[in-house]
Amino acid sequence: MSDFKLGEVADAITVVAHLGRLTFYAPSHNLANSTEHDVQLRCQMSEPCFDVAHLGHVEVLTDRFDESLDFFTRVYGLKLSAQEGGSAYLRAWDDYEFHTLKLTAAATTGVGHIGYRVSSPKALERRVAAIEASDYVVHGWTKGDAGHGPAFRFEDPFGHHFELYWETKRYDPRPEDRPALKNVASRFVPQGAAPRRLDHVNLLADDVTTFRNFMQTCLGARVTEQIRLDNGRLGGCWFTINNKSYDLACTEEHGRGRGRLHHVTYATDQREDILRAADIFLENGVHIETGPHKHAIQGTFFLYVWEPAGNRVELANAGARLILAPDWETVTWTETERKKGQAWGLNTIETFHTHGTPPVNEIP
Ligand SMILES: [Fe+2]
Ligand SMILES: [Fe+2]
Repeated sequence: MSDFKLGEVADAITVVAHLGRLTFYAPSHNLANSTEHDVQLRCQMSEPCFDVAHLGHVEVLTDRFDESLDFFTRVYGLKLSAQEGGSAYLRAWDDYEFHTLKLTAAATTGVGHIGYRVSSPKALERRVAAIEASDYVVHGWTKGDAGHGPAFRFEDPFGHHFELYWETKRYDPRPEDRPALKNVASRFVPQGAAPRRLDHVNLLADDVTTFRNFMQTCLGARVTEQIRLDNGRLGGCWFTINNKSYDLACTEEHGRGRGRLHHVTYATDQREDILRAADIFLENGVHIETGPHKHAIQGTFFLYVWEPAGNRVELANAGARLILAPDWETVTWTETERKKGQAWGLNTIETFHTHGTPPVNEIP
């Protein structure tokens, strides 16, 4: 690289700076001449694809709406943006969108849909084209709801409904909810656990490898960590579509259910917030399933509880961990390693392997 002249090939390389260390990557073609087709092709390959920006919201179903809403606002500490049509639109205090949790009254529990915001209108076109060209079930366009504009809906092979959207409704705080500093989305109010933002969702699937193919094809997701069982099957996969360590996890379904939710998670600024939350849950009679403790996979500090209708909800703190390497190699955990328990030795509680929502006998 000693006779390398940056100016001569500046448009044909990608230069990535890592705190003083420069790494040069020579792509196979000139980026300046990239077509949408090229971008779409890269999204189908192992190269990072940033068409999808972030996990936007999760719709959680409840058959005990009033109790669930009381939990999510007074105890878990989300803020209520609106309530209409049998749904409550909720967000954490620094979520920039109108809602990140849509709590919907239903005959049972579980997940209604999972919404991802895309990076641009063009990125949405590329993703829609890729999904339509696939064999996955497509539901097509919806006009959106109180929290966002038109959304393109599709379905994974296990019955979970996904949507992609660009147009969103940003949260506009009322005067009493306006923050002192203008670079946060709303005022911090220490009501309940009061997490800062939506972090991730964990789904259950009969075949994690099939689910992984879906995430790579439809969202351009990368797998940051996974579990490989002794029988050769994938026990779990952790996916990212940006530089977070994960925004969706999928673990193997052991309860013979379909389209089930394992948990939804919000992030706190500090581990200490999670210890405080444990006492708040205890005082309010909330079922603490496991934690606080630290996951071996992803190193996330965690606490799992069940909201009144039975949906599992997590609080998590991933520290400063980010996935910056564009050529990140998936970390694979063996079954033997997993049997050692969580990071500091806590054994994974049995219900963590079996409890999902809705309960199996209520699945339509
Ligand atoms: Fe939505
Ligand atoms: Fe989690």
